[in-house]
Amino acid sequence: MEKEKYNIKELRGYSVALIIQYLASKNKLGLNIFEIGSAYSRNQGVSTAQLADFAFQHGHNFSTVDIEPDHTAASKANVRQICGAEAEEHADFYTCDSLDALKDLEEKQVKLDFAYIDGGNDPLQNLREFQKITSLLKPDGIILIDDLQEINSPDGYPAPRPMGKATLIIPYVILAQHQAREAPNGMLEKFESSFEPKNFYIQVRMLAYGPDEFLKYYKDCIKQSGTKTGIHF
Ligand SMILES: C[S@@+](CC[C@H](N)C(=O)[O-])C[C@H]1O[C@@H](n2cnc3c(N)ncnc32)[C@H](O)[C@@H]1O
Repeated sequence: MEKEKYNIKELRGYSVALIIQYLASKNKLGLNIFEIGSAYSRNQGVSTAQLADFAFQHGHNFSTVDIEPDHTAASKANVRQICGAEAEEHADFYTCDSLDALKDLEEKQVKLDFAYIDGGNDPLQNLREFQKITSLLKPDGIILIDDLQEINSPDGYPAPRPMGKATLIIPYVILAQHQAREAPNGMLEKFESSFEPKNFYIQVRMLAYGPDEFLKYYKDCIKQSGTKTGIHF
């Protein structure tokens, strides 16, 4: 990934770049990549341009969703400016709620190789996104979640959000891990999940979820970058 082209300074941009590099190393054709929350300001990030460029250069499929029409428009302009008109045209831009975009992918029977969750700050919506994505994820598929930073509630959200967009996703996966591994489950009798939980790794503000081989790669790269290492669940 060309760091200069994308001006990747933050862990979020670096994490997306690492995942692109990992996917590229697999030499697979026609990968399906999906992003929630289109990058509409270059100050915020360039994830959409990174992914659109990768998809265009290697013939993969990429779609991104944003609920705000002006964010979609700005994101398209961003991709055109950084990667060119062809990369922009190659990508699918949804303007709707993330769950509606996922419903559309489900109806089209799309199976995802990589999903990036970076939309709104409602933990229940984020959990629903994660649940739908895991139901559409290929067995070796990867999910990256940004941002795990505590969110205070100027918008009147009634409960704490100590882990940002992963506030409900982390307990959900941990409970599913316990259930799948038949840990003593007195408290978990009423917990229902219908997916096969994988391990995950949290590094400061990002959560990476996927097969062990990928998690090892991600952890090693993060370590080599000199960033403080995280927690492996
Ligand atoms: C953090 S920004 C995305 C940043 C981008 N991924 C990047 O790295 O620069 C979050 C975006 O999610 C969008 N969003 C919020 N709620 C959403 C929802 N329910 N469905 C789809 N998009 C949503 C917002 O409009 C906003 O543009």
